[in-house]
Amino acid sequence: MKQEQLVELAKEYGTPLYIYDGNIILQRYKELFNFIKWPKLEIFYAMKANYNIGILRLLKDADAKVDIVSPAEAILCLEIGFSPENLLFTANNITEKEMHEVHKLGLLFNIGSLSRLEKYGKAFPGSKVCIRFNPDVVAGSHVNIQTGGNITKFGILMQDVQEVKKIIQSYNLTVVGLHEHTGSGIAETEKVYQSMTNLLSIAKAENFPDLEFIDFGGGLKVPYHPDERRIDYLKFGEIISEIFSDFCKNYGKKLVLRFEPGKYIVTESGYLIVQVNTFKNNRGRLIVGTNSGFPQLIRPSFYNAYHHIANLTNPDGEMQKYDICGNICETGDVFASQRDLPEVRIGDYLVLENAGAYCYSMGGIYNLRAMPSEVLFYKGKAHLIRKQLTNEELVKQILQDSS
Ligand SMILES: Cc1ncc(COP(=O)(O)O)c(C=O)c1O
Repeated sequence: MKQEQLVELAKEYGTPLYIYDGNIILQRYKELFNFIKWPKLEIFYAMKANYNIGILRLLKDADAKVDIVSPAEAILCLEIGFSPENLLFTANNITEKEMHEVHKLGLLFNIGSLSRLEKYGKAFPGSKVCIRFNPDVVAGSHVNIQTGGNITKFGILMQDVQEVKKIIQSYNLTVVGLHEHTGSGIAETEKVYQSMTNLLSIAKAENFPDLEFIDFGGGLKVPYHPDERRIDYLKFGEIISEIFSDFCKNYGKKLVLRFEPGKYIVTESGYLIVQVNTFKNNRGRLIVGTNSGFPQLIRPSFYNAYHHIANLTNPDGEMQKYDICGNICETGDVFASQRDLPEVRIGDYLVLENAGAYCYSMGGIYNLRAMPSEVLFYKGKAHLIRKQLTNEELVKQILQDSS
């Protein structure tokens, strides 16, 4: 979006403010079908990246399916009209109550531990299931989002495939899908191919004769830094299709190929606009205070992630280095350290870019500051898709929940 548009919306709706560009979301979703030309491709949007219902509705209208990780995510999707067949529930350390709750909703379970598989089989013998394996490949842009290899709670080890088969047989379960998720923000495409090859090596008809799909998870990276190059997803798609096609020939059936990207679909659509309210010069270190903070965009603090920042209201100012801080009572409440920016003045609007994925959705109200409003800009119009609570509303909600 143009900088003037962002400033206009910031003035109209107030800051801090999340803005999402709906055209980018649809473009990213749809282009995956051009890149990965497998005729039976299904894209499940990982809604944990951004669960705003304006975004979910946009993707639903484009026929997207959804990767679900909690009962509330399932209920929300059903509530806005997704059908259960278009949702996959990737159960991670769930309780018995949650298992029954989601089963009642009619979702297919993707099970990533032997103990849960056993419990699921006992509770619902004769059901269909998807099994999540650990791909034994370590990849992802930060250790907290690498989900393969030994040091992870996710997935069943591939060496345990015989154990899986025993449980399946005991409870007469039908394995209709296999799943893996290697990590988030994977820069090395070879690691994705390796993960696929690993999972496909156990996806034989003699192990799992009833497969309908294989789901290779999310992890498709988009550039965050202006110097970063975009991965050649056309080439990626060709290689993926080739690997999968060879597999299907051996398996004897053209299976559905699934991916479940979150970041790829929504990251680049999002902007967080903040306003500068304080300025300090600590013996030469220039410290900028803004009206947002890490509970509203945690990726820099939690993953040491880079979010590009621009000064919307003084783009031609003299370049200087700044620490861009938030309004939270924590020293680590810093969006960017020693970042080169055009002169930052009190009252300037700054934009943190690529704020569409794992920003609002990972947010909270630490220090009792309500999450910002969210605006969806689509077909030339801005739609307020969630309103920031006033301080009074926030406190009322807390009092209500606590009484
Ligand atoms: C099981 C699973 N699928 C998909 C995703 C989406 O990953 P990304 O947003 O990197 O595409 C995640 C992210 O954590 C995940 O855990």
